[in-house]
Amino acid sequence: MFAPVVRLASKKLLEIHQVFYQPPHASGSFSTALNYHIDSPDNNPDIPWEFSEANKEKVKEILSHYPSNYKQSAVIPLLDLAQQQHGGWLPVSAMNAVAKIVEVAPIRVYEVATFYSMFNQSKVGKYHLLVCGTAPCMIRGSREIEEALLKHLGVKRNEVTKDGMFSVGEMECMGCCVNAPMITVVDYSKGSEGYTYDYYEDVTPKRVVEIVEMLRRGETPPVGTQNPLRIKSGPEGGNTTLLSEPKSPPCRDLDAC
Ligand code: FES
Repeated sequence: MFAPVVRLASKKLLEIHQVFYQPPHASGSFSTALNYHIDSPDNNPDIPWEFSEANKEKVKEILSHYPSNYKQSAVIPLLDLAQQQHGGWLPVSAMNAVAKIVEVAPIRVYEVATFYSMFNQSKVGKYHLLVCGTAPCMIRGSREIEEALLKHLGVKRNEVTKDGMFSVGEMECMGCCVNAPMITVVDYSKGSEGYTYDYYEDVTPKRVVEIVEMLRRGETPPVGTQNPLRIKSGPEGGNTTLLSEPKSPPCRDLDAC
């Protein structure tokens, strides 16, 4: 009776392991389907990691925003700074360094880093392109946008191009649905000093490829709406209602009361 139960339990455990574990890519990095850390030659706790001298000053500044007995509140901005410094992703030793600074067990930092999708646990490109995949952007063609990017760059989602320049990820609503579909370009090419996180809105499959090529040439494409007929979030072609000067609200005649 006992042996079959053990056999069944082992089989189930093996199935679970197979679902969660994916072998390394040819490049040596792990699939993002892997949602827990396994030591690898380029990502293990024995690799030394610390904030740069310039960023050590920023760490002090960030910590100064919180009471000294609540240092752990600084975990998100510190992880963000670590990710910027490390070219867009967080090796386990960077997370351990943050845990040491905020004086918590490393697991507390891993919990935060793995919960928020803006933190990457594997390498990304110097330009990480995030396609919004939520309903308004999807209805306006975000799948075609992603397909165009992946095809043009010759990668799968979350893979990095061979030259290390680009990767394509997906994010949920980034809060500019009025300009759907949109992508974000996260620029890790200049470390934490030149880090930018820019929105490109009202994009088309053709336009996102143009944006990629401009970035490749070292140009900075104009951010915001890519539709020349719109001004920011205004209607295409200009206003069609509320065309006259707004009237001031009627004032109450207090003397007549
Ligand atoms: S759904 Fe894409 S920005 Fe909101």
